[in-house]
Amino acid sequence: MQAKIEKIGPLSALAINNIQEVAGNGTEFLSFREKLSLANISHPEKIVEWKGARIAIKAALDCISLPYPGFFKDEHGKSQPMDGFGHVSLTHTRGVAAAIFHKDMPVGIDMDFVREKIVRLGPKFLDDSEIEFLGTDPLLHTIAWSAKESIYKCQGKKGISLKENILLFPFKLEDKIIKAKVYQSDFSDHFYQVKVEHEKDMVLTYTIW
Ligand SMILES: CC(C)(COP(=O)(O)OP(=O)(O)OC[C@H]1O[C@@H](n2cnc3c(N)ncnc32)[C@H](O)[C@@H]1OP(=O)(O)O)[C@@H](O)C(=O)NCCC(=O)NCCS
Repeated sequence: MQAKIEKIGPLSALAINNIQEVAGNGTEFLSFREKLSLANISHPEKIVEWKGARIAIKAALDCISLPYPGFFKDEHGKSQPMDGFGHVSLTHTRGVAAAIFHKDMPVGIDMDFVREKIVRLGPKFLDDSEIEFLGTDPLLHTIAWSAKESIYKCQGKKGISLKENILLFPFKLEDKIIKAKVYQSDFSDHFYQVKVEHEKDMVLTYTIW
């Protein structure tokens, strides 16, 4: 997916970067706690992914002229700003990292490569009604998976099932926005909208407000 920094609005931005391209970038902007976390990652691939995602957040924050506050992981694994202001979400996969930030609203972002086998895995994360409108198209299935992961990350709490608690309303390949709801959970009937972009064999989704 093409690297970019996009201002979504005055309070929100997203950035996508090519991990190898930014691997040599400095990380002096990281907080002391983040530098410690980075030092504790031993797998070389994980190190560049972790760095790539933080460099993406920094780029998104620069784009809306906000300082980098440093982030810590809460008990659910979601990154939270150390100064308590704003919401962030991260994703990294082979070669690419992305981040989205919003000053006021919870956000979720996810990136995935399109894989044929996702169709076979459908019944694990999809409701029967979703399988019906998705058919057998791997791209549509990857979009559905990614949209659910973005919503999962936006709500942030462990214990929500992609299959049982997140329902996507019917959508088609040409749709740029997917509507969905979280149901039968502590956050019952909370509605979401997810922006969808796909380029070559990669899907990007993120929640909008
Ligand atoms: C946590 C989860 C969303 C991460 O997604 P992933 O595709 O494995 O990885 P990504 O690169 O897209 O995202 C990783 C980032 O997610 C973030 N994350 C982790 N837990 C999170 C949570 N509870 N809420 C929000 N964000 C979270 C972290 O920032 C992490 O990056 P970091 O480790 O560098 O800080 C995923 O592993 C998960 O648990 N999904 C839902 C559970 C599920 O139902 N899975 C199986 C269904 S068949």
